[in-house]
Amino acid sequence: MKHTDIFEVLNNRALVNNNVTVCGWVRTSRDSKNMAFLELNDGTTLKHLQIVIDKEKMSDISEFMKLGTSLKVTGEVVKSVVAADSVEINAESIEVLGTCPSEYPLQKKRHTLEYLRTIPALRVRTNTFNAVFRVRSVVSASIHEFFQNNHYTYIHTPLITASDCEGAGEMFRVTTVGVEDGFKTQDEADAADFFGRRAALSVSGQLEGEVAAMALGKIYTFGPSFRAEKSNTPRHVAEFWHVEPEVAFAELPDIIEIAEALIKHIINAVLTKCPEELKFFDAHFEKGLIEKLTNVANNDFAVMTYTEAIQKLKESGEQFKYPVEWGLDLMTEHERYISEVICKKPVFLTDYPKEIKSFYMKQNPDGKTVAATDLLVPGVGEIIGCSEREADLDKLLDAMKIRNMNLMDYEDYISLRKFGSVPHSGFGLGLERIIMYVTGVQNIRDVILYPRTVGSIS
Ligand code: 4AD
Repeated sequence: MKHTDIFEVLNNRALVNNNVTVCGWVRTSRDSKNMAFLELNDGTTLKHLQIVIDKEKMSDISEFMKLGTSLKVTGEVVKSVVAADSVEINAESIEVLGTCPSEYPLQKKRHTLEYLRTIPALRVRTNTFNAVFRVRSVVSASIHEFFQNNHYTYIHTPLITASDCEGAGEMFRVTTVGVEDGFKTQDEADAADFFGRRAALSVSGQLEGEVAAMALGKIYTFGPSFRAEKSNTPRHVAEFWHVEPEVAFAELPDIIEIAEALIKHIINAVLTKCPEELKFFDAHFEKGLIEKLTNVANNDFAVMTYTEAIQKLKESGEQFKYPVEWGLDLMTEHERYISEVICKKPVFLTDYPKEIKSFYMKQNPDGKTVAATDLLVPGVGEIIGCSEREADLDKLLDAMKIRNMNLMDYEDYISLRKFGSVPHSGFGLGLERIIMYVTGVQNIRDVILYPRTVGSIS
């Protein structure tokens, strides 16, 4: 259908005094004696386009006035009477593309996010989701841009896997057999299953990413990961988008530099390309958001060891729900306190106790910690999990054996340490978590089209 985007109509002054055709959904409508006014949105911008109707020119306008109705409008673009810097359209013809009954749920100006979650197919038509998804798109493009500009190769790692990267056993099984097949034991069922062994959805593309990095040097993956964690929190979903670079010849300080540069690149892209959206989030979700992002983009992140952070938490006198002790896996309350109160900015927490981290992380000479870091940010907590990888075959095997891992499932991965092993590092950035950080949206369910969470798949 030939038409002009509303973004174009609102931003291209050359269209003033010309006739255009626009399409969109009615967001507001107002009727007066001789005139009627509609605000149309087609999703190409947060702003609505005002359509002015001279009622003498149209016989029946009642269908046009219903919220949610989709219209095709032709008319002249004119300077707005009320807002000098904007334009509107004097309608000459209007065609209803799709009628919308009065039970259309988006009748109020503002709805709660909780209510909007109950109407996932329609919440996308609100300003909030319009802005969230445009930012999400810009962030995704900026991630590719960062890696492509820096000579990384984009790798597609498998989503179905036989190994558990994080070793936490929080995987969704992939199977074509069930109780109806009458197997007596799980082993029997696994052997008869599609792949002839147990398979699951991948929690991370890292292990395969390491394989690629050991040949291509610098790679990144960007795709979905799946976690069957029963964490019903505002920052966990069962299906999230995961950005995972893997870099040969990089040690922990090198990968920290890369992670910081990526986050700053993402923030700069959003500041440049989404000014309207950021103004909206600043006004409605996080006061001072734009200033925060500008500061973060222009200042160094903090770096602190886990041991130092534990000491500072203990000294803080703060009453935490989970008491602080060295060896503890930090909870969100601790992570947020460290970044919000102690550092007041994003912080790379380094050198965690080896017992609470994954088998693949490089063991530090102290025998107690690993060369790992999490990036913690105010308001969200952890957005990046990162480490230098254990490049020494014997140390890697020891770490796997201590965790009772089945070495057969990791043969490929282990072989990398036999054939020209090199120091290398990588990290995982949760796309939804960085979107939360740059928009100020507090619940991960509101930055993804269809959130999959424990007990809920709509
Ligand atoms: O810290 P994680 O578990 O690290 C890994 O998966 C490594 N294999 C990454 C790597 O080194 N290549 O997860 C990385 C990030 C987290 O910091 C978080 O941002 C995100 O993935 N994440 C989740 N996001 C939403 N919902 C969940 N359930 C998430 N689990 C992890």
